[in-house]
Amino acid sequence: MTYPVQMNVTPEVQAFFDAATHTISYIVKDPSSPACAVVDSVMDIDYAAGRITFDHADMLIQQITKQGLRLEWIIETHVHADHLSAAPYIQARLGGKIGVGAKITVVQDTFGKVFNEGTAFQRDGSQFDALFEDGDIYHIGNMQAFAMYTPGHTPACMVHVMGDAAFVGDTLFMPDGGSARADFPGGDAGVLYDSIQKVLALPEAMRLFMCHDYGPGGRDIQWETTVAEEKAHNIHVGHGISREDFIRFRTERDAQLDMPKLIIPSLQVNMRAGEVPTDPDGRPMLKVPINGL
Ligand SMILES: [Fe+2]
Repeated sequence: MTYPVQMNVTPEVQAFFDAATHTISYIVKDPSSPACAVVDSVMDIDYAAGRITFDHADMLIQQITKQGLRLEWIIETHVHADHLSAAPYIQARLGGKIGVGAKITVVQDTFGKVFNEGTAFQRDGSQFDALFEDGDIYHIGNMQAFAMYTPGHTPACMVHVMGDAAFVGDTLFMPDGGSARADFPGGDAGVLYDSIQKVLALPEAMRLFMCHDYGPGGRDIQWETTVAEEKAHNIHVGHGISREDFIRFRTERDAQLDMPKLIIPSLQVNMRAGEVPTDPDGRPMLKVPINGL
């Protein structure tokens, strides 16, 4: 697959770090029009209390409104397991289409079973406005963007490239953070390695924007690097590490990791494009499958 890279287009990228989940949400503006996209928004949850709020999403909405931007796309790089998406909340206020990788159907099938969702839960991705295949092109104003299929962390992961900026989701972390885990259902360390090679095959000067940063070693939170930096310094995949070595390392490491604190609410909400499921009486309600994950 040859991707339609346009390094001469430089979108304005504004980052918004969510300290509760270590997620970075982005507003990406077309350099030649007021059009913009949101990548990986966050809905706030106090899981212990079962309470959902929208401070982080409201901040994005406020910025978009204040700057007079027109929201055209609300992109999810994947079905996140560590935070809830605010896509429908943002869409209800600003419009825009919610887009995710076409393999969302695989994720919906897997977790539809885990959460025993029954026939009411559609597993065809119809909760989203757009399902991207590898190489699919879309536009944010005059700016061309495309989706690159990068499974491994999850089966539906996509990297979104907008001009000289790539939003890598959970394929890569900052060079000193390495890579994301590959042990969720449908994950695969070898497949993740192959996907990371696709990202590293983008032009060296491509700006890369992370979905997460945990400030390893106590350093300040960072979210932006380049292909060249990742190739040279990434602690998991830099220096030309082999596929076999990566699989061995990644598998051993993943076996030691706890489940993300918010995986149970996140999956139920995010596989529905950010909608909270409801009980038979129509009340918002989440399930906890016992020993199901
Ligand atoms: Fe993730």
